[in-house]
Amino acid sequence: MNKPVRVTITGAAGQIGYQLAFRIASGQMLGKNQPIILQLLEITPALTALKGVVMELEDCAFPTLNNVIATDDANTAFKNSDYGLLVGAMPRGPGMERKDLLEANAKIFTQQGKAINDHANKNIRVLVVGNPANTNALIASSNAPDISSENFTAMTRLDHNRAKAYISKKIGVTSNDILKMTIWGNHSATQYPDIDHVLCEGQPIVGKVTQEWLESDFIPTIQQRGAEIIKARGASSAASAASAAIDHMHNWVNGTPKDDWVSMGIPSDGSYDISPGIVYSFPVRCNKGKYQIVHDLKLSEFSKKRMQITEQELREERKAIEDLL
Ligand code: NAD
Ligand code: LMR
Repeated sequence: MNKPVRVTITGAAGQIGYQLAFRIASGQMLGKNQPIILQLLEITPALTALKGVVMELEDCAFPTLNNVIATDDANTAFKNSDYGLLVGAMPRGPGMERKDLLEANAKIFTQQGKAINDHANKNIRVLVVGNPANTNALIASSNAPDISSENFTAMTRLDHNRAKAYISKKIGVTSNDILKMTIWGNHSATQYPDIDHVLCEGQPIVGKVTQEWLESDFIPTIQQRGAEIIKARGASSAASAASAAIDHMHNWVNGTPKDDWVSMGIPSDGSYDISPGIVYSFPVRCNKGKYQIVHDLKLSEFSKKRMQITEQELREERKAIEDLL
């Protein structure tokens, strides 16, 4: 067994938090040889519910769960934290866009960015799940000047997984057979799920599907999948979101398979002409705890246009919260 690491989950009594806590505690994120100290953050009125989560975690007797700290104080929750899953935030309801949450949720990420800066391990790896995830990650990072901005990421892995699953169903293969999917841009209705580099059973998928299907079925389905789930469930995705968060962290820490890549919202470094200063989803390969953008992908004019639309939305979101940066 390795030395224990500290994993902070915010909003731990919420829908996603309730899934995440058990999966992380059981070793699904960092492996069966990695003892975990869970540091769970909630708002004060949810502390009783959080107490119930802690009782259930204890009752699982997970060999990898070393200790659980439950608190309504962000400074305590991030104390010496090695991994931060920032989930606690308001979810959208029917008819809303994720960016409509910006005003309500921005304060949370300002405060938590400061708590991370002052109390967490300087190498903490942060995944922002709470919406609008990309811009919340930017806010948290800007409020944590002593921690590398590269350590703040936003979740587009759910979109990535959705896109792989949708293609595999269309072609009649398993999602394992689909490699090199890319989500560009914002976790929003402007995101661009790009299939130009996708391999299906080792062969390019372009040519197996029509442009008509791509434009009028695949792209809008992936862009609107979150809203469709809200319509069906009356609440936003939770189990699939927790699963994607586990996948994101697992690949970041343990690496990506050498013939594949994943999508992560990360601070733009200007690659593919995407302006620095926003958190944008790129295709990345991970190795030894670091991610690197996949460079030199050939982009069609169609792709470039879509990538710019989602970039523009992120620039507008950034402008709306400039005073918090
Ligand atoms: P939820 O309402 O069930 O849970 C959120 C929890 O956060 C609640 O228990 C609440 O008390 C807590 N909370 C609120 N403010 C907090 C704060 N300042 N500190 C700590 N905890 C706080 O919502 P959910 O379904 O778990 O969704 C959480 C967020 O994740 C939403 O913003 C949702 O839109 C987003 N989401 C993102 C993705 C993605 O792919 N990026 C996917 C699904 C959901
Ligand atoms: C999702 O994509 O399922 C989440 O971002 C929740 C939402 O608001 O759509």
